[in-house]
Amino acid sequence: MASSEHSNAANAARTPLRLAIAGIGLVGQRHADAIAQVSDTTLCAVVDPSDAGKAVAERLGVPWFDDLQGMIVAQAPDGIILSTPTKLHVEQGAVCLDAGIPVLIEKPLADDLGAARTLVERAEQANVALLVGHHRRHNPLIRKAHEHIKRGTIGAVRAVQATCWFYKPDSYFDAAPWRKQVGAGPISVNLVHDIDLLRHLCGEILSVQAQAAPSARGYENEDVAAALLRFENGAIGTITVSDSIVAPWSWEMTAHEYPIYPTTSQSAYQIGGSQGSLSVPDLTLWSHNECRDWWTPISATSVPRDTSDPLINQMAHFAAVIRGEEAPLVSGREGLRSLAVVDAIQKSAKSNALVHLEEADGTGICRGKSTSQLKKTIETNAKIAK
Ligand SMILES: NC(=O)c1ccc[n+]([C@@H]2O[C@H](COP(=O)([O-])OP(=O)(O)OC[C@H]3O[C@@H](n4cnc5c(N)ncnc54)[C@H](O)[C@@H]3O)[C@@H](O)[C@H]2O)c1
Repeated sequence: MASSEHSNAANAARTPLRLAIAGIGLVGQRHADAIAQVSDTTLCAVVDPSDAGKAVAERLGVPWFDDLQGMIVAQAPDGIILSTPTKLHVEQGAVCLDAGIPVLIEKPLADDLGAARTLVERAEQANVALLVGHHRRHNPLIRKAHEHIKRGTIGAVRAVQATCWFYKPDSYFDAAPWRKQVGAGPISVNLVHDIDLLRHLCGEILSVQAQAAPSARGYENEDVAAALLRFENGAIGTITVSDSIVAPWSWEMTAHEYPIYPTTSQSAYQIGGSQGSLSVPDLTLWSHNECRDWWTPISATSVPRDTSDPLINQMAHFAAVIRGEEAPLVSGREGLRSLAVVDAIQKSAKSNALVHLEEADGTGICRGKSTSQLKKTIETNAKIAK
């Protein structure tokens, strides 16, 4: 159990932290539910200029504001959750940082990589916590998968295959027209979650080569895309995404995270190692019984794990960060790195060229490693894999 899960029970007697939500739409309302479940936090205000937002604030019984700055002046919250449309994240994130208020910004961090980088640097310089809402990292099953991979249960990771396919109905797009517009396609809105998890589980991504097809429904974005990923440790990955394919193979329909999605017993990622393989989220470990040999029997073991709601865990963690008890699990810089990969996928899909991450973003993805150092890392990992 992570420390932020402990804090929910252990801190019951403390003065609750006063949290505000800007953007009380689809995911904002889930954050309000999460705040209600975390014992040392309370929702103190909602910012959302829409009539629907005002109605939700009334239903929740909290003060409503149509403007973020006005809410900050009136309420001085201890922390702010930004679950507004992505194009507003940078501007509103800066308002929170300038007021010195820790902020949890929904994914993707921004719709523009350069602006996102400026925002993250601003947070780092001001020493104000900026977290990005890649909540899946707070799922106990991801902690378990991470633990096994780091421990070497499957040996050296050689390849990963990730699928993110589902069908979003027309009503989803009609309900919030920004979802049809440039920057809100499945690469940006959905794939960024999966990229974040692949980085977390398999390591940094060095280069991408991608293809995308325009929306068959006539929206401004792609509706199917695929990318070939090269990892720092030498592993190779493939990932495909679509919001217009009828299929069960996505995190949403396999992780049992949110009851709105039907559940299946399928999986979304297959992570292949030199000693075994792991499928995620069902956490099935595959290995040969006696020796590594495709002619000897191979068997599957289910990895036991806890279950808890990652959005609640994320909120408890945000509270712990505000109190100075934990460091951000998904910092602004982590969100920036995942955004940089997504940006590189977009660039590659447009240009049909291989895109190197360092060229694409300059965020120090490879932490300053030279090409020869990287070659050495890949060679070392290849030796381990033998
Ligand atoms: N973590 C996740 O799993 C997850 C899931 C869905 C969406 N998201 C992200 O959350 C963000 C919101 O997505 P959504 O689907 O909930 O959108 P939504 O359209 O349902 O909700 C956005 C809300 O923001 C409000 N808003 C607009 N302008 C505003 C302003 N200036 N100030 C305050 N509120 C304003 C809108 O009225 C609306 O209620 C996006 O960045 C999206 O990518 C994350």
